[in-house]
Amino acid sequence: MKAIVLVGGFGTRLRPVTYAVPKQLIPVAGRPMLYHVLDLLPDDVEEVVLATGYKADVIAAYVRAHPVRWPVRTVPEEQPLGTGGGMKNAGDGVSDPFFLLNSDVLASADLHAMRAAHAQHGGVGTMALFEVEDPRPYGVAALDAHDRITAFVEKPEPKDAPSRWINAGIAIWRREVLDPIPTGRAVSFEREVVPGLLPRGVFAFRLSGYWEDAGSPERILRAQRLLFDDHRGGPGGVPPGARGSGPVATMGEVRARDATFGPYVTLGARVTVAPDARVENAIVMDDTVIERGADVRDSLLGPRVRVRAGHRVIGQVLGEAAEA
Ligand code: GDD
Ligand code: MG
Repeated sequence: MKAIVLVGGFGTRLRPVTYAVPKQLIPVAGRPMLYHVLDLLPDDVEEVVLATGYKADVIAAYVRAHPVRWPVRTVPEEQPLGTGGGMKNAGDGVSDPFFLLNSDVLASADLHAMRAAHAQHGGVGTMALFEVEDPRPYGVAALDAHDRITAFVEKPEPKDAPSRWINAGIAIWRREVLDPIPTGRAVSFEREVVPGLLPRGVFAFRLSGYWEDAGSPERILRAQRLLFDDHRGGPGGVPPGARGSGPVATMGEVRARDATFGPYVTLGARVTVAPDARVENAIVMDDTVIERGADVRDSLLGPRVRVRAGHRVIGQVLGEAAEA
């Protein structure tokens, strides 16, 4: 099987960081978000096709420089085609069936078991579903007694949500689902195509464990905690000469002598955390400097940020080269 991964969003809820770095390359627990998503794929996947748009060149260059265990091809869009248009644009030569992954969902999911379930029920598709408290920001499914999806509503009004089981952004589709997708304009697969596929048999694969759409600042930090707790963090640990407790992941050389770390921190390459500065529950990207006595918590700091001595940065998102 091949996999199409949708990588074309603008990452608007993570601005200003995403003005410089595409959402999928923001590090979470020491690795770019996209790489945690790809980790879910079975080893025997033949090819990963990245449907790119925003910052397509940056993503293509990064995956060339940091190869994964499958061959990767990027298929850029000249203008945003939406989830459906992106699939169709990237779908030439795709396998039947194929995996479809959103690039911002950080989850525990057994895609081998999902593939077996799909082969068994034989419908046109299988969507991984996850149960949440508030389904309104997602695509929501209604299910019959055999876990066949009987209705699907994208981002429903509260009164229209048919259940609390949402589209987890992980699916297996038969190739024929690409046929009805119109070309030449943006198409939402979830709004315009999925409802029409239900009579052909779309089944649920219920996820347990954890799941997070890492598209907003609070959620990317929550996803980071989930990944660290699941031992999926990158290498590192509290840097030499620093105090405090992990988990901390470091993505290159860092300087942090006499700094203090709370749990759940990613430090990019060449980050400096000066003596008596403190960092907890945060993502700190390449070349950022946190000066003496500063306090950074619950925050996402882009590359080349400077936090001045003694300053407190709490619950903030700082874009490339910002000063606080
Ligand atoms: N190629 C391409 N082109 N990809 C796109 C485009 C586009 O124009 N627009 C968005 N994407 C990618 C995003 O990068 C992301 O990986 C995925 O498609 C979904 O887009 P989001 O913008 O993150 O959508 P969402 O989170 O509001 O909703 C989607 O995900 C939910 C789960 O997180 C839907 O699939 C919902 O049904 C689902 O519940
Ligand atoms: Mg999303």
